[in-house]
Amino acid sequence: MFKKNILITGGAGYIGSHIVEKLVKNKFKVFIYDNLVTGHKLLINKKANFIEGDLNDFKKLKRVIKNNNITSIVHLAAYLNIKESEKKRKKYYKNNVGGTLNLLKACIDSKVKNLIFSSSCSVYGNVKGSVSERGKLRPSSYYAFTKLKSEKIIQKYSKILDINYAILRYFNVAGASNSGKIGEVESSHDHLIKNLAIQALKENPKVYIYGNNYNTKDGTCVRDYIHVSDLADIHIKTLKKISIINKSLILNCGYGRGYSVKEIIDVYKKLKKNVKIKYLKKRPGDIAKIYSNISQIKKILNWKPKYDDLKKILISSINWEKKIDNGK
Ligand SMILES: NC(=O)c1ccc[n+]([C@@H]2O[C@H](COP(=O)([O-])OP(=O)(O)OC[C@H]3O[C@@H](n4cnc5c(N)ncnc54)[C@H](O)[C@@H]3O)[C@@H](O)[C@H]2O)c1
Repeated sequence: MFKKNILITGGAGYIGSHIVEKLVKNKFKVFIYDNLVTGHKLLINKKANFIEGDLNDFKKLKRVIKNNNITSIVHLAAYLNIKESEKKRKKYYKNNVGGTLNLLKACIDSKVKNLIFSSSCSVYGNVKGSVSERGKLRPSSYYAFTKLKSEKIIQKYSKILDINYAILRYFNVAGASNSGKIGEVESSHDHLIKNLAIQALKENPKVYIYGNNYNTKDGTCVRDYIHVSDLADIHIKTLKKISIINKSLILNCGYGRGYSVKEIIDVYKKLKKNVKIKYLKKRPGDIAKIYSNISQIKKILNWKPKYDDLKKILISSINWEKKIDNGK
């Protein structure tokens, strides 16, 4: 029933391409909708149908959903640089909130029954560590605000459209597919592990740490890192689940363990001994410490992580970086 035509907004991006790879393997008919603003041709799966388009092009979106008999959507397309979101609020509102609203409106009078939304742990804001789905929602960056606003719009429209939704709140996503074909290309998001992988190819690697006086065990920010392949698996399981139980879900997606930036760099140092560390000012909107309570996802999806190993995540990211560097 759920294995029908599926639309992936942002499917030419980092996480989207990993979800597409799994969907193709699972014999879905996949349609990617992406404007390539931070997506890359290199990440477009050859077995999927690619439509170059913008979320804000309502007519095109509507046509794509209708003409291709789309029954499920995974909505990833968004801007995600926290620092930039503070300075360019209108740009983020239009793309992330306006884009989500447009997508939902384009689903009116369609066959869409299931929608998965890529939300973020940042919707919880400043927490003291572990957070469950029932935690208070207090976004501390503008990016996080756009994610929370999108969640609310989805919840409202799910009633109007009579669809099941799953809001997946990702923690920090890292690593690359075992296939060696896809990984993170875009470097503008300023993600720690991507930055470490880029530096790993340099003779004299340098790493910047934003802030060293947070209220954490060693003063640096604590995050929960999940391998992108585990996250992609979660999407397949979630899609199956919401279509079988005919209900909506909100799930945290992480490993349930926090690592500080310094701890990650300590693991990295075993791979790159000569790395130099420089401390910079705190980034506005950054949370001190957050990691997920994953009892819900384990219980509801019967999910077990397969790649829960920081060293392996780092190695897979570095190997991917080598591969794209060789292709230049
Ligand atoms: N990477 C993480 O650690 C992380 C953590 C939490 C949540 N998320 C969420 O996951 C989603 C995917 O993130 P990613 O890391 O793969 O980033 P990404 O930049 O690689 O992917 C985003 C994709 O969306 C496309 N896009 C953006 N605006 C668009 C628009 N208006 N119309 C059409 N396409 C558009 C981009 O071209 C890109 O391919 C985002 O919604 C992000 O907020 C990511």
